[in-house]
Amino acid sequence: MYVCLCNGVTDKQIRQAIGQGARCIGCLRSGLGVATQCGKCAKMAKQMLREHSGTNESRSPEAVYA
Ligand code: FES
Repeated sequence: MYVCLCNGVTDKQIRQAIGQGARCIGCLRSGLGVATQCGKCAKMAKQMLREHSGTNESRSPEAVYA
């Protein structure tokens, strides 16, 4: 499933990046281009990060205003 339509990034790519150590939306942004254009994918990407880590990362200022 595509998470980021602007950059053609799938959920599999995001999960793979998380599996390889990506722990923040900035990591996904720089590594895959997630949330670098319209930003509509940021919410889903953050949710995936949160599900993996079990943290409250989505409440960081960067996450809120990304
Ligand atoms: S859907 Fe990801 S930047 Fe637009």
